[in-house]
Amino acid sequence: MGIKKGVRGGRAAPAEGQMTGFTFRKGTLYCEDVKVDDIVASVGSPVYVYSERAVLGNYREIRNAFAGVSTLICFSVKSNSNLSVLHLLALEGSGFDVVSGGELYRALQAGADPRKTIFAGVGKNPQEIKYALDSNILMFNVESQAELESINTIAHDNKTTARVALRLNPDVDPKTHARTTTGKKENKFGIDLGMAEKVVKGAKRYDSLQICGLHVHLGSPIMSPEPYVKALEKLNGFLPLCRKYSLPIEYVNIGGGYCISYTGEAVCRPADYAREVLPLVRAVGLKLILEPGRFIVGNAGILVTKVLYDKESSFGKRFVICDAAMSDLIRPTLYDAFHRIWPVNPRVPMPEVLTPKGFNPPKKGLAKVDIVGPVCESSDFFARDRFIPKIKQGELLSIFSAGAYGFTMSSNYNSRPRPCEVMVRDKTFQVIRRRESYEDLVAKEIG
Ligand code: LLP
Repeated sequence: MGIKKGVRGGRAAPAEGQMTGFTFRKGTLYCEDVKVDDIVASVGSPVYVYSERAVLGNYREIRNAFAGVSTLICFSVKSNSNLSVLHLLALEGSGFDVVSGGELYRALQAGADPRKTIFAGVGKNPQEIKYALDSNILMFNVESQAELESINTIAHDNKTTARVALRLNPDVDPKTHARTTTGKKENKFGIDLGMAEKVVKGAKRYDSLQICGLHVHLGSPIMSPEPYVKALEKLNGFLPLCRKYSLPIEYVNIGGGYCISYTGEAVCRPADYAREVLPLVRAVGLKLILEPGRFIVGNAGILVTKVLYDKESSFGKRFVICDAAMSDLIRPTLYDAFHRIWPVNPRVPMPEVLTPKGFNPPKKGLAKVDIVGPVCESSDFFARDRFIPKIKQGELLSIFSAGAYGFTMSSNYNSRPRPCEVMVRDKTFQVIRRRESYEDLVAKEIG
């Protein structure tokens, strides 16, 4: 696949090396060959814009990197669950990682192959378990002994056998944000190795389960292969016990968490993870499952927002108030996440790298601002004390790297209709989710 270089002199956009689909040409932002200006002129703002080319490019990059062993890629639906995104990936051969009955429904609606679909999550309810069994999914990733009992009983009552992987909690630090860390002993996820040993020794009593895999998901984003290696070493060390108790383990699943660049700096790529991970997978001769979400869609999407007001205080603070809010993209509020933000028609070209440290010394033509939304919360911000080119009311800003955990984590807080979503392919674009209306906001209420 064609790999783009990072931004130079504002001419190409973000993320060193990764397929993004976004470039500045002659001082205006394009998604593929469509001007972002033209999209907003047609559908309004705020709007999520995705590049089909980037989604596919990223999917292919991770697939190719791990092609050295038999690998099933299960796109993590929670990162972006729009039917068109899922359909695109299903056509490309992707499997899916779902965490609720709703996500399973979406995936199936989008054409997912149930035999490439896996169901994770600490709290699957009986209806969801039955739905997944009836749909004949590939397997459940099971997170506790109590859940094993539950799936066994439901499978038994349905006169079927449930395929399951044990999600282990290997107590490995993925060295990421505490709120997105999942594989340490204090986290609610997975079965710790001591408990897992008991499960394996008593596995015979699950007459309606086939324990066919071992799974870990450590957290995200993970900036180096090292945590995966540590976890795999623990998994591999656990295998002999599984074999001793005749569990038909066929799959090892190392979850998601593959990082993207939010700053434009070079980061670890799928090939870097694969180089370290594949020898450990080959050593045990199992099939590999990956659950990438962010890597495939994160940099393939932006959130475009219009400046409503520019407000200065006598204390020297300056607020750029836009029409998008924390209800549309909550990552900065939740995790203090950094997203590059730059005007769609900038007077100063976007630099190759933008980091939370900002410019030192500050560049000419830039102003230090807080970029905020209309929601009635002080935590409603996209950036604080950020240098961006001076911008006027009515101009557009692009919030980059918003394709993962953007729309999926949006809400109707403050009774704000959700933005629309648009998919670009070459010179054309299509609305793939219409903007919500006021009627949509009340449609499900009774009385
Ligand atoms: N597999 C499992 C079991 C997961 O829980 C997750 C993410 C993934 C795969 C996909 O991880 P990814 O490849 O997308 O990093 N809302 C946060 C991230 C929370 C992720 C939850 N689980 C964010 O905005 O960064």
